[in-house]
Amino acid sequence: MSDESRASPVRLASLSNKLIAAIIAVIFLVEVVIYLPSLAMFRATWLDDRLRVGVVAARVLDAVPDVMALPRNLTDRLLTSAGANAIVYRRAGQSQLIELADPVAPDSVVTADMRQRDIGSLIAGALDTLLAGPGRTLRIVGEGDLDESLIEILMPEAPLRRDMLDYSRNIVLVSLGIAAVMAVALYMLVSRLFILPVQRLSRNILRFRQAPENAALILSATPRRDEIGVLERELSAMESELFSMLRQQRHLADLGLAVAKINHDLRNTLTSAQLLSDQVATLDDPKVQRLAPRLVTTLDKAIGFAQSVLDYGREAASVPVLAPVDLRTLLEEAAFEARLAGHPDIAFSNRVPDGVIVLVDAGQMGRVFVNLLKNAREALEQGGRDHPAVVVSAEPGDDNVTIAVSDNGLGLPPRAKENLFIAFEGSARSGGTGLGLAIARELTAANGGILRYVDDGGPGTRFELVLPLDIHRQ
Ligand SMILES: Nc1ncnc2c1ncn2[C@@H]1O[C@H](COP(=O)(O)OP(=O)(O)O)[C@@H](O)[C@H]1O
Ligand SMILES: [Mg+2]
Repeated sequence: MSDESRASPVRLASLSNKLIAAIIAVIFLVEVVIYLPSLAMFRATWLDDRLRVGVVAARVLDAVPDVMALPRNLTDRLLTSAGANAIVYRRAGQSQLIELADPVAPDSVVTADMRQRDIGSLIAGALDTLLAGPGRTLRIVGEGDLDESLIEILMPEAPLRRDMLDYSRNIVLVSLGIAAVMAVALYMLVSRLFILPVQRLSRNILRFRQAPENAALILSATPRRDEIGVLERELSAMESELFSMLRQQRHLADLGLAVAKINHDLRNTLTSAQLLSDQVATLDDPKVQRLAPRLVTTLDKAIGFAQSVLDYGREAASVPVLAPVDLRTLLEEAAFEARLAGHPDIAFSNRVPDGVIVLVDAGQMGRVFVNLLKNAREALEQGGRDHPAVVVSAEPGDDNVTIAVSDNGLGLPPRAKENLFIAFEGSARSGGTGLGLAIARELTAANGGILRYVDDGGPGTRFELVLPLDIHRQ
């Protein structure tokens, strides 16, 4: 994936589209919640209107002694004006009925009892009407205006349903309008407040990452006081720091190159001087015989120093190549290279069990062990102990192994303890560079391990390493 495509979000998944979709969904949800009760109220009002006509008619019926005697066209007009097929008026055990001259026989009758006005049954009634097929007859039941009087109106359901559908259509149109206006307004607001600043941030990160040495690309923070403002200021500070760090690092790298060049020439010069001093040492003059060995060792130390500084410079570049390595063999070879195996005075014992396979770069970890064992030998060669010995042991765990390299010398001098693992600082012996332990720790970490000094209060010195095991071989 290229940088560009990673940084610009997939079109449909972009923040703004997600936002619009969420706004519209929420508005519709709210509309549905509002729609059902208001539809129920609309139907109740509609039915109440019809009942009121029924009440008027009932009053008329109450006033005339004999309904049958009323002229036909009068009752018909009364009924058509109410949109009803028939009106029944009950009071005190008596009921009166007026109906159209040629009544239609109802096939299915549903009752809308307007005496029950709880929202649940109103909504149920409204949904029932809305979802019903055509041709149903409605029986509207309600109270009259006199005590214990009851009005029933029979009428087709179709007009009510038509009006309810009209009403619903209006609501949908109004909701769409509201949703659109809200979505646009909210979108503009949120865009200005969040999306545009976030887009600015992500664009800036992308461009800065491609050219972190260009100070012009460092984000200029706005004076916002909210979280995005914090983000902008932090990013800006981070970019400034990175910029100066990179510049410093480049300068250091240049300096390092210069030092390496000088050091290289120095070593060659010293090597020529060494050849010369070797020849001087063969002269018979007793004065020369006395001074020559000191000259030789001094030159040796200087060359060793130059060489290890050169090695340190090269070290930085190599990336470890991890492979299964037999730990016991690795240590055996390291002890040999550190001139510890077969040493005339120092006893070396390799107590690593057979078959412990670690997953490391053999060359790099080999160098770590050579450094540790060489330090131990150098410390023991200074004397101070009766039976100088170096012991290496290992305790394999589930997925890593803990290795201890210990000697029974005089322990770390204070100066070494204080600057342990710091390059050029940790050395407490003449001719030392203080690079051995620093390199050892760096290499161990690069190989996924840990190197630490264990101060157990006892005599001698103990270093511990934790290295990853090759779990497939265990
Ligand atoms: N096993 C040890 N016993 C005593 N002193 C040690 C031991 N290992 C390291 N040191 C001390 O730590 C110092 C730093 O070691 P190192 O980083 O290898 O640098 P260098 O060997 O070049 O001096 C040494 O100079 C030495 O004084
Ligand atoms: Mg050393």
